Amino acid sequence: MCGIVGYIGSQQAESILLTGLKRLEYRGYDSAGLAIVGDDGLVVEKRKGKVDELRSAVDGQPLLGTLGICHTRWATHGPPTDANAHPHTSVSGDFALVHNGIIENHGVIRKRLKEKGYEFVSDTDTEVLVHLIEDIRRETDLSLGEAVRQALTQVVGTYGIAVVSSVDDQLIAARKGSPLILGIGDGEYFIGSDAAPLVEHTRQVVYLSDGEIVTVNRNGYEVKTIDNVPLEKEVHELEWDLSEIEKSGYDHFMLKEIMEQPESLSDSMRGRLLPDDPRVVLGGLYNHWDQIVDADRIIIAACGTSWHSALVGEYLIESFARIPVEVEYASEFRYRNPILRDGDVVIVISQSGETADTLAAVREARKNGVLCLGICNVVGSTIARETDAGVYLHAGPEIGVASTKAFTAQVTVLAMIALKLAENRTLSTAEMAHNLHALASIPDKVDEVLGMNDEIREMASVYRYASNFLYLGRGYNFPVALEGALKLKEISYIHAEGYPAAEMKHGPIALIDRFMPVVFIAMKDSTYDKVVSNIEEVVARDGSVIAITDEGNGELDKLCEYVLRIPKTEEFLSPLLTVVPLQLLSYHIAVMRGCHVDQPRNLAKSVTVE
Ligand code: F6R
Repeated sequence: MCGIVGYIGSQQAESILLTGLKRLEYRGYDSAGLAIVGDDGLVVEKRKGKVDELRSAVDGQPLLGTLGICHTRWATHGPPTDANAHPHTSVSGDFALVHNGIIENHGVIRKRLKEKGYEFVSDTDTEVLVHLIEDIRRETDLSLGEAVRQALTQVVGTYGIAVVSSVDDQLIAARKGSPLILGIGDGEYFIGSDAAPLVEHTRQVVYLSDGEIVTVNRNGYEVKTIDNVPLEKEVHELEWDLSEIEKSGYDHFMLKEIMEQPESLSDSMRGRLLPDDPRVVLGGLYNHWDQIVDADRIIIAACGTSWHSALVGEYLIESFARIPVEVEYASEFRYRNPILRDGDVVIVISQSGETADTLAAVREARKNGVLCLGICNVVGSTIARETDAGVYLHAGPEIGVASTKAFTAQVTVLAMIALKLAENRTLSTAEMAHNLHALASIPDKVDEVLGMNDEIREMASVYRYASNFLYLGRGYNFPVALEGALKLKEISYIHAEGYPAAEMKHGPIALIDRFMPVVFIAMKDSTYDKVVSNIEEVVARDGSVIAITDEGNGELDKLCEYVLRIPKTEEFLSPLLTVVPLQLLSYHIAVMRGCHVDQPRNLAKSVTVE
């Protein structure tokens, strides 16, 4: 989704803003722009296309000034054009504004402003806000901060905004439904949609909450609610490192993040998995543990890849804790008036912690008085703050739009929750120790799977021209089949479907011919024999099969075109290994097809609109 960076301080703003904007590219966008306040007043440059095109536009003629804002736009109202790109400037030319989100009542306000003579030069809902602020300024002579605050009381919808003015020498930012962070440096301040543009300048941050506005001057800042109540905000320490948000020699963030999984998984388990004790420590859930253990039902809500990890979570929790679990698309859960009862516990899963539908699921749960737990990666994210308690993934920043290391970290956290729920319940001490040791050995096994990268790349070159793919798996690996298909379609634009392998007979089998590659996850587990029968059915119809199975298993060689043999593990942990070759397969196919792997078309990293 759109990105915002703002700066006020003593350094030249242009390079800080453009570098910051590059760091937000991963969120997805189709135009970019910046506004700088210098000696000659406010100067705005904006372009359809990439940040590099904007950078080239200002290269010969640097914009001088130490106060500015910039933006990457992901088109909602109006196509990606120079005119629709942000910042938008007031008629007086005094101030410029960038906006993430959607002003839902823009039509009514636009009509009113047009009647007053304001002319609109873009198709955006954002321009309405600019003229509204200008109008309030004209009629009241309020300070910019106050005019912005009053304008925001009139809009319905979502926003993260930043405003700069050549008259007031201030940076104003406000949020409702679209994240914003204030970075506090030494005599300088930064605004960012997330921590990526801030991390190289400061570690001290203030997370703005919904309905808050900050006015930043050169010597300080003041936070208020939109209703004008002054607030004392806590200053937090950022955990991110600069190296974590750079490619470190990899061609793409996605590949870096796939390759990082041995470390990210170890980080997710650190201090929590104690195989020799044997027990799991989840400090974030400590205060609510009795309620979680006694839950009558657990509902897990999430979107996309996080929804796939939720499905694995359902299998894990039901199997180890014997608590019924329901998995919901967050977008459906929020609108279908779900039945929530005493004894229910809702868990939401979100890498970004900002996904609008998942956040709405949190609010729905809390509105119904149900305990709501979060599994998030981004520390301080809105979902992390609005849930009653939770567990961070500690997987490090995920920049690639296709989620990879977050999925494996989510499954790891869910496995730890399931095993902790099994304590004194379904597992003996010896079984617990065995399972915890098995989980602890996963990072090394993932490393072994990553060692098959060349083999997978070679396989990708054979299948790169396919138009369709089918992914099939059973049990714990059914969600992995869904995830494999999602990874392929989102970054290579090849149509792919995932199914429980047995479901194939109920329709998808009609698709199978020699042009249809079918990826089977065929681990030697409780479903293996059934999966082999499904493979035979595909082979009998000329389908071309790629199988992922255990090391040492030669039984599938005669049936399949490719067999990838990965290390053995316990059945419940196999998604942590089987998903890795599927991530690499999608990555290589996408690269070979010339797709923009880290910023696939039409996709945004953090979906903060419904
Ligand atoms: C797929 C992908 C998306 C996200 C989904 C939820 O690779 O990245 O499907 O998983 O948008 O995002 P979070 O987990 O941030 O709530």
